[in-house]
Amino acid sequence: MGMKVLVVGGGGREHTIVWKLKHSPLVSELHCAPGNGGIAALAECHAVDAVDVDGMVALATRLAVDLVMVAPDDPLAAGMVDALEAAGIRAFGPRKNAAIIEASKSFSKSLMKKYGIPTAAYEVFEDADKAVAWLQDQSMPIVVKADGLALGKGVLICATLAEAEAAVRSILTEGKFGKAGSRVVIEECLTGPEVTVLAFTDGKTMLPMASSQDHKRAYDNDEGLNTGGMGTFSPSRIYTPEMEAWCMEHIYRPTMDALNREDRTFRGVIYFGLMITPEGPKVIEYNARFGDPETQVLLPRLENDLMEIFLAILDNRLDTIRLRWKPESAVCVVMASGGYPEDYRKGHPISGLAEAAQVETATVFHAGTRRDGDALVTAGGRVLGVTALGADMEQARQRAYEAVSRISFQDAHWRTDIGIKK
Ligand code: AMP
Ligand code: GLY
Repeated sequence: MGMKVLVVGGGGREHTIVWKLKHSPLVSELHCAPGNGGIAALAECHAVDAVDVDGMVALATRLAVDLVMVAPDDPLAAGMVDALEAAGIRAFGPRKNAAIIEASKSFSKSLMKKYGIPTAAYEVFEDADKAVAWLQDQSMPIVVKADGLALGKGVLICATLAEAEAAVRSILTEGKFGKAGSRVVIEECLTGPEVTVLAFTDGKTMLPMASSQDHKRAYDNDEGLNTGGMGTFSPSRIYTPEMEAWCMEHIYRPTMDALNREDRTFRGVIYFGLMITPEGPKVIEYNARFGDPETQVLLPRLENDLMEIFLAILDNRLDTIRLRWKPESAVCVVMASGGYPEDYRKGHPISGLAEAAQVETATVFHAGTRRDGDALVTAGGRVLGVTALGADMEQARQRAYEAVSRISFQDAHWRTDIGIKK
Protein backbone atom coordinates (compact mmCIF):
# COMPACT_ATOMS: atom_id res chain seq x y z
CA MET A 1 0.00 0.00 0.00
CA GLY A 2 1.41 3.33 -1.04
CA MET A 3 1.04 6.52 0.92
CA LYS A 4 -1.49 9.31 0.67
CA VAL A 5 0.22 12.68 0.41
CA LEU A 6 -1.13 16.23 0.63
CA VAL A 7 1.02 19.04 -0.82
CA VAL A 8 0.27 22.55 0.49
CA GLY A 9 0.53 25.39 -2.04
CA GLY A 10 -0.52 26.21 -5.56
CA GLY A 11 2.37 27.61 -7.60
CA GLY A 12 5.00 26.35 -10.01
CA ARG A 13 7.10 24.95 -7.20
CA GLU A 14 4.18 22.89 -5.92
CA HIS A 15 3.33 21.64 -9.41
CA THR A 16 6.94 20.44 -9.73
CA ILE A 17 6.85 18.72 -6.32
CA VAL A 18 3.55 17.01 -7.16
CA TRP A 19 4.93 15.98 -10.59
CA LYS A 20 8.02 14.47 -8.93
CA LEU A 21 6.01 12.67 -6.23
CA LYS A 22 3.78 11.27 -8.98
CA HIS A 23 6.86 9.29 -10.13
CA SER A 24 7.30 7.69 -6.70
CA PRO A 25 6.21 4.08 -6.21
CA LEU A 26 5.84 4.91 -2.51
CA VAL A 27 2.98 7.32 -3.23
CA SER A 28 -0.46 5.98 -4.15
CA GLU A 29 -2.65 9.05 -3.79
CA LEU A 30 -1.87 12.74 -4.25
CA HIS A 31 -3.82 15.73 -2.96
CA CYS A 32 -3.01 19.42 -3.17
CA ALA A 33 -4.45 22.53 -1.54
CA PRO A 34 -5.24 24.83 -3.15
CA GLY A 35 -3.39 23.57 -6.27
CA ASN A 36 -3.84 25.11 -9.73
CA GLY A 37 -4.94 24.29 -13.26
CA GLY A 38 -1.90 22.12 -13.97
CA ILE A 39 -1.72 20.36 -10.62
CA ALA A 40 -5.36 19.30 -11.08
CA ALA A 41 -4.22 16.85 -13.77
CA LEU A 42 -1.96 15.01 -11.29
CA ALA A 43 -3.61 15.42 -7.88
CA GLU A 44 -7.01 16.03 -6.38
CA CYS A 45 -7.17 19.75 -5.56
CA HIS A 46 -8.98 21.12 -2.52
CA ALA A 47 -10.12 24.71 -2.02
CA VAL A 48 -8.26 25.37 1.21
CA ASP A 49 -6.00 28.41 1.31
CA ALA A 50 -2.29 27.61 1.75
CA VAL A 51 -2.10 29.84 4.85
CA ASP A 52 -5.24 28.45 6.52
CA VAL A 53 -3.65 26.39 9.30
CA ASP A 54 -6.89 25.15 10.90
CA GLY A 55 -8.43 24.44 7.50
CA MET A 56 -5.38 22.42 6.43
CA VAL A 57 -5.34 20.35 9.65
CA ALA A 58 -9.06 19.63 9.14
CA LEU A 59 -8.49 18.66 5.48
CA ALA A 60 -5.52 16.40 6.29
CA THR A 61 -7.54 14.74 9.06
CA ARG A 62 -10.58 14.22 6.86
CA LEU A 63 -8.46 12.74 4.03
CA ALA A 64 -6.47 10.65 6.55
CA VAL A 65 -3.26 11.44 4.69
CA ASP A 66 0.02 9.81 5.68
CA LEU A 67 2.09 12.93 5.04
CA VAL A 68 1.59 16.65 4.45
CA MET A 69 4.33 18.48 2.53
CA VAL A 70 4.18 22.21 3.39
CA ALA A 71 5.91 24.05 0.54
CA PRO A 72 5.35 27.86 0.90
CA ASP A 73 6.92 30.27 3.38
CA ASP A 74 3.81 31.78 5.01
CA PRO A 75 2.27 28.58 6.40
CA LEU A 76 5.70 27.42 7.61
CA ALA A 77 6.20 30.75 9.40
CA ALA A 78 2.68 30.49 10.84
CA GLY A 79 3.43 27.08 12.39
CA MET A 80 1.44 24.80 10.08
CA VAL A 81 3.90 21.94 10.63
CA ASP A 82 3.59 22.30 14.41
CA ALA A 83 -0.22 22.31 14.16
CA LEU A 84 -0.27 19.20 11.95
CA GLU A 85 2.09 17.37 14.30
CA ALA A 86 -0.05 18.35 17.29
CA ALA A 87 -2.98 16.73 15.48
CA GLY A 88 -0.94 13.54 15.02
CA ILE A 89 -0.25 14.07 11.30
CA ARG A 90 3.24 13.68 9.83
CA ALA A 91 4.40 16.85 8.15
CA PHE A 92 7.43 17.68 6.02
CA GLY A 93 8.93 21.13 6.59
CA PRO A 94 10.54 23.07 9.44
CA ARG A 95 8.61 23.91 12.57
CA LYS A 96 7.82 27.55 13.28
CA ASN A 97 10.85 28.01 15.53
CA ALA A 98 13.17 26.94 12.68
CA ALA A 99 11.23 28.58 9.82
CA ILE A 100 12.12 31.88 11.51
CA ILE A 101 15.40 31.87 9.55
CA GLU A 102 13.28 33.09 6.65
CA ALA A 103 10.48 34.84 8.53
CA SER A 104 12.79 37.26 10.37
CA LYS A 105 15.85 38.74 8.69
CA SER A 106 17.00 40.28 12.00
CA PHE A 107 16.91 36.79 13.52
CA SER A 108 18.91 35.21 10.71
CA LYS A 109 21.44 38.05 10.70
CA SER A 110 22.05 37.73 14.45
CA LEU A 111 22.35 33.94 14.10
CA MET A 112 25.01 34.35 11.40
CA LYS A 113 26.85 36.95 13.43
CA LYS A 114 26.82 34.82 16.58
CA TYR A 115 28.14 31.74 14.79
CA GLY A 116 30.55 33.45 12.39
CA ILE A 117 28.72 32.56 9.18
CA PRO A 118 29.80 34.91 6.35
CA THR A 119 27.19 37.55 5.49
CA ALA A 120 26.96 41.32 4.87
CA ALA A 121 27.64 43.64 7.84
CA TYR A 122 24.37 45.09 9.18
CA GLU A 123 22.42 47.01 11.81
CA VAL A 124 18.79 46.60 12.94
CA PHE A 125 16.44 49.51 13.72
CA GLU A 126 12.87 49.93 14.95
CA ASP A 127 13.03 53.72 15.16
CA ALA A 128 13.13 55.67 11.90
CA ASP A 129 14.94 58.72 13.34
CA LYS A 130 17.69 56.55 14.82
CA ALA A 131 18.07 54.69 11.53
CA VAL A 132 18.26 57.95 9.55
CA ALA A 133 20.81 59.41 11.99
CA TRP A 134 22.97 56.29 11.64
CA LEU A 135 22.71 56.40 7.85
CA GLN A 136 24.42 59.83 7.71
CA ASP A 137 27.87 58.26 8.28
CA GLN A 138 27.43 55.27 5.97
CA SER A 139 28.79 54.87 2.47
CA MET A 140 26.38 54.30 -0.41
CA PRO A 141 24.98 52.20 -1.99
CA ILE A 142 23.33 50.50 0.99
CA VAL A 143 20.58 47.89 1.31
CA VAL A 144 17.41 48.46 3.37
CA LYS A 145 15.25 45.42 4.15
CA ALA A 146 11.92 44.93 5.89
CA ASP A 147 12.43 42.34 8.65
CA GLY A 148 9.57 39.98 7.82
CA LEU A 149 8.02 38.18 4.84
CA ALA A 150 7.20 40.67 2.08
CA LEU A 151 6.75 38.51 -1.06
CA GLY A 152 10.36 39.17 -2.08
CA LYS A 153 9.59 42.90 -2.36
CA GLY A 154 10.94 44.04 1.01
CA VAL A 155 14.53 44.63 -0.18
CA LEU A 156 15.52 48.11 -1.41
CA ILE A 157 18.98 48.73 -2.87
CA CYS A 158 19.62 52.42 -2.30
CA ALA A 159 22.15 54.33 -4.41
CA THR A 160 21.97 57.59 -2.44
CA LEU A 161 21.46 58.73 1.14
CA ALA A 162 18.13 60.32 0.12
CA GLU A 163 16.91 56.97 -1.27
CA ALA A 164 18.01 55.14 1.86
CA GLU A 165 16.21 57.67 4.11
CA ALA A 166 13.07 57.35 1.99
CA ALA A 167 13.28 53.55 2.17
CA VAL A 168 13.57 53.60 5.95
CA ARG A 169 10.63 56.00 6.28
CA SER A 170 8.45 54.03 3.86
CA ILE A 171 9.00 50.85 5.87
CA LEU A 172 9.09 52.10 9.48
CA THR A 173 6.94 55.26 9.35
CA GLU A 174 4.51 54.66 6.50
CA GLY A 175 4.20 50.92 7.14
CA LYS A 176 4.62 49.94 3.47
CA PHE A 177 5.04 46.26 4.36
CA GLY A 178 2.69 46.22 7.37
CA LYS A 179 3.86 44.13 10.30
CA ALA A 180 6.73 42.68 8.23
CA GLY A 181 8.22 46.17 8.37
CA SER A 182 8.10 46.94 12.08
CA ARG A 183 11.89 46.55 11.96
CA VAL A 184 14.44 47.21 9.26
CA VAL A 185 17.77 45.55 8.62
CA ILE A 186 20.27 47.91 6.95
CA GLU A 187 23.10 46.09 5.24
CA GLU A 188 26.36 46.64 3.50
CA CYS A 189 25.86 46.29 -0.26
CA LEU A 190 27.76 43.26 -1.55
CA THR A 191 28.69 42.63 -5.16
CA GLY A 192 29.07 39.49 -7.22
CA PRO A 193 26.99 36.85 -8.97
CA GLU A 194 24.27 35.06 -7.01
CA VAL A 195 23.93 31.30 -6.71
CA THR A 196 21.14 29.37 -5.03
CA VAL A 197 21.92 26.17 -3.17
CA LEU A 198 19.09 24.22 -1.60
CA ALA A 199 19.91 21.53 0.93
CA PHE A 200 17.97 18.73 2.54
CA THR A 201 18.59 18.39 6.26
CA ASP A 202 17.25 16.38 9.18
CA GLY A 203 19.32 18.35 11.69
CA LYS A 204 22.15 15.77 11.66
CA THR A 205 23.05 15.51 7.99
CA MET A 206 23.29 18.34 5.50
CA LEU A 207 22.77 17.24 1.91
CA PRO A 208 23.21 20.09 -0.60
CA MET A 209 21.39 19.75 -3.90
CA ALA A 210 22.76 20.76 -7.29
CA SER A 211 23.32 24.51 -7.70
CA SER A 212 21.07 26.85 -9.64
CA GLN A 213 20.75 30.51 -10.55
CA ASP A 214 17.65 32.67 -10.66
CA HIS A 215 16.93 35.69 -12.89
CA LYS A 216 15.02 38.04 -10.59
CA ARG A 217 14.51 41.15 -12.72
CA ALA A 218 11.49 41.44 -14.99
CA TYR A 219 13.31 42.21 -18.26
CA ASP A 220 16.30 41.03 -20.30
CA ASN A 221 19.79 42.11 -19.18
CA ASP A 222 18.53 42.32 -15.60
CA GLU A 223 16.47 45.42 -16.22
CA GLY A 224 13.13 46.32 -14.65
CA LEU A 225 11.70 45.54 -11.25
CA ASN A 226 12.55 42.62 -9.02
CA THR A 227 10.10 39.72 -9.36
CA GLY A 228 9.58 36.38 -7.66
CA GLY A 229 11.89 34.96 -10.37
CA MET A 230 11.62 35.03 -14.20
CA GLY A 231 13.64 31.91 -14.89
CA THR A 232 16.34 29.61 -13.61
CA PHE A 233 19.04 27.28 -14.76
CA SER A 234 21.00 24.44 -13.17
CA PRO A 235 23.83 23.85 -12.60
CA SER A 236 25.55 27.19 -12.02
CA ARG A 237 28.72 27.64 -14.08
CA ILE A 238 30.55 29.46 -11.30
CA TYR A 239 29.85 27.16 -8.35
CA THR A 240 32.77 24.73 -8.34
CA PRO A 241 33.24 21.57 -6.24
CA GLU A 242 35.92 23.48 -4.26
CA MET A 243 33.40 26.23 -3.54
CA GLU A 244 30.87 23.65 -2.45
CA ALA A 245 33.38 22.10 -0.04
CA TRP A 246 34.19 25.55 1.36
CA CYS A 247 30.49 26.41 1.78
CA MET A 248 29.86 23.06 3.47
CA GLU A 249 32.49 23.85 6.07
CA HIS A 250 31.80 27.56 6.55
CA ILE A 251 28.10 27.99 5.77
CA TYR A 252 25.93 24.89 5.43
CA ARG A 253 27.07 22.78 8.37
CA PRO A 254 27.57 25.79 10.67
CA THR A 255 23.98 26.86 9.93
CA MET A 256 22.62 23.43 10.85
CA ASP A 257 24.78 23.32 13.99
CA ALA A 258 23.78 26.86 15.00
CA LEU A 259 20.08 26.03 14.73
CA ASN A 260 20.62 22.89 16.83
CA ARG A 261 22.48 24.88 19.48
CA GLU A 262 19.62 27.37 19.61
CA ASP A 263 17.13 24.50 20.10
CA ARG A 264 15.63 25.19 16.69
CA THR A 265 16.50 21.97 14.87
CA PHE A 266 15.66 22.38 11.19
CA ARG A 267 14.10 19.48 9.28
CA GLY A 268 13.24 20.11 5.67
CA VAL A 269 14.83 22.12 2.88
CA ILE A 270 17.06 25.11 3.61
CA TYR A 271 17.55 27.63 0.81
CA PHE A 272 20.95 29.34 0.81
CA GLY A 273 20.89 32.50 -1.30
CA LEU A 274 24.62 33.08 -1.82
CA MET A 275 26.52 35.98 -3.30
CA ILE A 276 29.95 35.05 -4.63
CA THR A 277 31.81 38.19 -3.54
CA PRO A 278 35.48 38.96 -4.23
CA GLU A 279 36.09 37.76 -0.64
CA GLY A 280 34.25 34.50 -1.20
CA PRO A 281 30.66 33.25 -0.83
CA LYS A 282 28.41 35.09 1.64
CA VAL A 283 24.81 34.43 2.65
CA ILE A 284 22.38 37.00 1.23
CA GLU A 285 19.33 35.23 2.60
CA TYR A 286 18.04 31.99 4.05
CA ASN A 287 14.69 30.59 3.06
CA ALA A 288 13.02 27.75 4.91
CA ARG A 289 11.74 25.92 1.84
CA PHE A 290 12.24 24.94 -1.79
CA GLY A 291 12.79 27.97 -4.08
CA ASP A 292 10.42 29.00 -6.82
CA PRO A 293 11.40 28.72 -9.72
CA GLU A 294 14.61 26.93 -8.62
CA THR A 295 12.60 23.76 -7.91
CA GLN A 296 11.50 23.70 -11.56
CA VAL A 297 15.11 23.06 -12.68
CA LEU A 298 16.22 20.89 -9.74
CA LEU A 299 13.59 18.19 -9.43
CA PRO A 300 13.67 17.36 -13.18
CA ARG A 301 17.43 16.69 -12.69
CA LEU A 302 17.02 14.68 -9.48
CA GLU A 303 17.18 10.93 -10.01
CA ASN A 304 16.27 9.91 -6.45
CA ASP A 305 12.72 9.18 -5.33
CA LEU A 306 11.71 12.44 -3.59
CA MET A 307 9.34 10.64 -1.24
CA GLU A 308 12.20 8.42 -0.05
CA ILE A 309 14.15 11.58 0.87
CA PHE A 310 11.18 13.11 2.71
CA LEU A 311 10.72 9.93 4.74
CA ALA A 312 14.44 9.71 5.54
CA ILE A 313 14.33 13.25 6.91
CA LEU A 314 11.26 12.55 9.03
CA ASP A 315 12.97 9.44 10.44
CA ASN A 316 16.28 11.26 11.09
CA ARG A 317 18.20 8.96 8.75
CA LEU A 318 19.14 11.33 5.95
CA ASP A 319 22.69 9.94 6.30
CA THR A 320 21.43 6.85 4.39
CA ILE A 321 20.60 8.90 1.28
CA ARG A 322 22.98 9.82 -1.55
CA LEU A 323 21.65 12.32 -4.04
CA ARG A 324 22.03 11.46 -7.72
CA TRP A 325 21.70 14.10 -10.45
CA LYS A 326 21.22 13.79 -14.17
CA PRO A 327 24.31 15.19 -15.88
CA GLU A 328 22.09 17.25 -18.20
CA SER A 329 21.62 20.99 -17.77
CA ALA A 330 18.16 22.39 -17.11
CA VAL A 331 16.58 25.73 -18.01
CA CYS A 332 13.21 27.04 -16.82
CA VAL A 333 11.65 30.04 -18.60
CA VAL A 334 8.81 31.75 -16.74
CA MET A 335 5.93 33.00 -18.88
CA ALA A 336 4.28 35.87 -17.01
CA SER A 337 1.22 38.07 -17.41
CA GLY A 338 2.01 41.38 -19.16
CA GLY A 339 2.57 44.05 -16.48
CA TYR A 340 3.85 41.65 -13.78
CA PRO A 341 5.25 42.35 -11.14
CA GLU A 342 2.95 45.38 -11.16
CA ASP A 343 -0.72 45.34 -12.25
CA TYR A 344 -1.76 42.69 -14.74
CA ARG A 345 -4.98 41.09 -15.99
CA LYS A 346 -6.13 37.54 -15.38
CA GLY A 347 -8.52 35.20 -17.13
CA HIS A 348 -6.88 34.99 -20.58
CA PRO A 349 -7.18 31.57 -22.27
CA ILE A 350 -3.90 29.66 -22.68
CA SER A 351 -3.23 27.56 -25.79
CA GLY A 352 -0.45 25.39 -27.16
CA LEU A 353 0.37 23.40 -24.02
CA ALA A 354 0.08 20.01 -25.71
CA GLU A 355 2.30 21.20 -28.58
CA ALA A 356 4.88 22.53 -26.08
CA ALA A 357 4.98 19.20 -24.26
CA GLN A 358 5.98 17.53 -27.57
CA VAL A 359 9.38 19.24 -27.44
CA GLU A 360 11.97 16.72 -26.31
CA THR A 361 12.50 16.78 -22.50
CA ALA A 362 10.14 19.76 -22.07
CA THR A 363 7.74 19.95 -19.12
CA VAL A 364 5.34 22.83 -18.52
CA PHE A 365 4.84 23.59 -14.84
CA HIS A 366 1.83 25.73 -14.01
CA ALA A 367 2.10 28.63 -11.56
CA GLY A 368 -0.88 30.97 -12.00
CA THR A 369 -3.42 28.97 -14.01
CA ARG A 370 -6.96 27.89 -13.39
CA ARG A 371 -9.42 25.57 -15.13
CA ASP A 372 -12.47 27.35 -16.51
CA GLY A 373 -14.75 24.64 -17.86
CA ASP A 374 -12.70 22.92 -20.56
CA ALA A 375 -10.35 25.86 -20.93
CA LEU A 376 -7.25 26.77 -19.02
CA VAL A 377 -6.89 30.47 -18.18
CA THR A 378 -4.27 32.73 -16.60
CA ALA A 379 -4.76 33.32 -12.88
CA GLY A 380 -1.60 35.00 -11.59
CA GLY A 381 1.49 37.07 -12.36
CA ARG A 382 3.75 34.16 -13.08
CA VAL A 383 1.66 31.86 -15.26
CA LEU A 384 3.89 28.99 -16.44
CA GLY A 385 7.42 27.70 -15.93
CA VAL A 386 8.64 25.91 -19.03
CA THR A 387 11.54 23.56 -18.26
CA ALA A 388 13.72 21.58 -20.63
CA LEU A 389 16.92 19.55 -20.26
CA GLY A 390 19.86 19.41 -22.64
CA ALA A 391 23.31 17.91 -23.05
CA ASP A 392 24.56 21.43 -22.32
CA MET A 393 22.96 24.71 -21.28
CA GLU A 394 22.60 25.89 -24.87
CA GLN A 395 20.61 22.82 -25.87
CA ALA A 396 18.43 23.11 -22.75
CA ARG A 397 17.82 26.78 -23.62
CA GLN A 398 16.91 26.01 -27.23
CA ARG A 399 14.43 23.35 -26.19
CA ALA A 400 12.85 25.47 -23.45
CA TYR A 401 12.41 28.41 -25.84
CA GLU A 402 11.07 26.15 -28.59
CA ALA A 403 8.41 24.96 -26.12
CA VAL A 404 7.69 28.56 -25.03
CA SER A 405 7.18 29.60 -28.67
CA ARG A 406 4.37 27.04 -29.01
CA ILE A 407 2.38 28.49 -26.08
CA SER A 408 0.27 31.62 -26.28
CA PHE A 409 -1.98 33.79 -24.14
CA GLN A 410 -2.80 37.48 -24.38
CA ASP A 411 -0.01 39.84 -23.22
CA ALA A 412 2.35 36.98 -22.36
CA HIS A 413 5.80 38.20 -21.31
CA TRP A 414 9.02 36.26 -20.83
CA ARG A 415 12.72 37.00 -20.78
CA THR A 416 14.72 35.80 -23.76
CA ASP A 417 18.06 35.50 -21.93
CA ILE A 418 17.44 32.81 -19.31
CA GLY A 419 20.49 30.59 -18.89
CA ILE A 420 22.91 32.95 -20.60
CA LYS A 421 24.42 34.88 -17.70
CA LYS A 422 27.46 33.67 -15.83
P1 AMP B 1 16.36 38.87 -0.67
O1 AMP B 1 14.86 39.11 -0.70
O2 AMP B 1 16.98 38.98 0.64
O3 AMP B 1 16.70 37.67 -1.50
O4 AMP B 1 16.98 40.03 -1.58
C1 AMP B 1 16.56 40.20 -2.90
C2 AMP B 1 17.75 40.55 -3.75
O5 AMP B 1 18.33 41.77 -3.30
C3 AMP B 1 18.88 39.55 -3.67
O6 AMP B 1 18.69 38.47 -4.51
C4 AMP B 1 20.06 40.41 -4.08
O7 AMP B 1 20.10 40.54 -5.47
C5 AMP B 1 19.72 41.73 -3.48
N1 AMP B 1 20.41 41.92 -2.20
C6 AMP B 1 19.96 41.58 -0.97
N2 AMP B 1 20.86 41.87 -0.02
C7 AMP B 1 21.92 42.43 -0.65
C8 AMP B 1 23.19 42.95 -0.21
N3 AMP B 1 23.53 42.97 1.08
N4 AMP B 1 24.01 43.42 -1.15
C9 AMP B 1 23.67 43.43 -2.46
N5 AMP B 1 22.52 42.96 -2.93
C10 AMP B 1 21.63 42.46 -2.04
N1 GLY C 1 13.41 32.25 -6.28
C1 GLY C 1 13.49 32.91 -5.03
C2 GLY C 1 12.75 32.29 -3.92
O1 GLY C 1 12.17 31.23 -4.02
O2 GLY C 1 12.73 32.88 -2.86
